[in-house]
Amino acid sequence: MPDVATDEERSAFKEYPLLELLGVSKQFAVSHNGKKAKLSAVNDVSFTVKKGSTLGIVGESGCGKSTLARVITGLHPPTDGEMIFANRQIKSRRGKEMAKAMQMVFQDPHSALNPRSTIGESIGFPLTVQGVSKAETAKRVAQVIADVGLPAAYASHYPHQLSGGQRQRVNIARALVVQPQLVVLDEAVSALDKSIQAQVLNLLSDLQEQYGLTYVFISHDLNVVEYISDEVVVMYLGQVVEQSPAEELYRRPLHPYSQVLLSAIPNLDPTRSRREESVDEIDGEIPSPIDPPSGCRFRTRCPFAQDICAAERPERVEAEPDHFVACHIYTGKVTVPTTESLFEGAHA
Ligand SMILES: Nc1ncnc2c1ncn2[C@@H]1O[C@H](COP(=O)(O)OP(=O)(O)OP(=O)(O)O)[C@@H](O)[C@H]1O
Ligand SMILES: [Mg+2]
Repeated sequence: MPDVATDEERSAFKEYPLLELLGVSKQFAVSHNGKKAKLSAVNDVSFTVKKGSTLGIVGESGCGKSTLARVITGLHPPTDGEMIFANRQIKSRRGKEMAKAMQMVFQDPHSALNPRSTIGESIGFPLTVQGVSKAETAKRVAQVIADVGLPAAYASHYPHQLSGGQRQRVNIARALVVQPQLVVLDEAVSALDKSIQAQVLNLLSDLQEQYGLTYVFISHDLNVVEYISDEVVVMYLGQVVEQSPAEELYRRPLHPYSQVLLSAIPNLDPTRSRREESVDEIDGEIPSPIDPPSGCRFRTRCPFAQDICAAERPERVEAEPDHFVACHIYTGKVTVPTTESLFEGAHA
């Protein structure tokens, strides 16, 4: 293998699936009106994340993004379904190697770091736990501190001496020090100011190249997801309604829910005058995941819903190359004037 991959080799490399989810569900046992109930936080989710790429996950608050992140990284056992990582089935009890290979970075930089540990100790902690020698730990900690763009002297600093952006660099360093293959970032830049956010996003892109990382990137900020993602999954009430290459999804969302969600993006680009509506324009409340609608979960708020939508859950169909959607308009069981006018209508 040559040292430097050509663009062609790099794109071929990206085609290899690192993580596959097949019908993954997560239910929580909850008490509802004094009775035991099941809350369906994630339901029958299937998708593939290609090695070296970034998969973005978007959807309204409560749609199951963090739950899915926790199921992927092993913090929650799935209730149902299968996950395959690097061609190996993920068992309910993960081995050490599998656990190391998937790391997570959370939103809150404050709570994630121990205030009484130095930055160097915090970053080195996962290695110490693994029994890595002191000398090797120090070497790897110094390297990763440099890689995330912090001065070497910060190893002896404490979290309160750092800015929010710097603390989030430390959290990224702590995830990377164990040399993972997949990093799940759950609202990892959401608490940062816009300018700092841009710096951390650029850092993440550089680290992805340098370490050959694969990202699952979760954010409620649709602009950030568009910027960083190769592919995007849209979730609604625990289910995936659409998956597509990012550019294609933002240019031409197919699912009625995605259309309204994406039309609500605050307009940063003056050439895109149509994104001015608010997500409130979807009729009705999000139904409870304790008693989700039958069939298509979006049907209670969908302007195009017909009887079939309550009777039958729409299968995921490849409406366009690499562009998947779960909606009866695309299974052919619901007819709207034309998909083109549906698209125009959502952005009118
Ligand atoms: N440990 C838990 N026990 C019971 N219910 C839970 C638990 N964790 C999450 N839920 C419920 O599961 C659903 C999905 O929550 P989740 O946190 O995954 O959503 P989210 O998409 O990450 O939302 P947000 O954008 O606000 O972070 C919600 O209805 C939530 O109340
Ligand atoms: Mg969340």
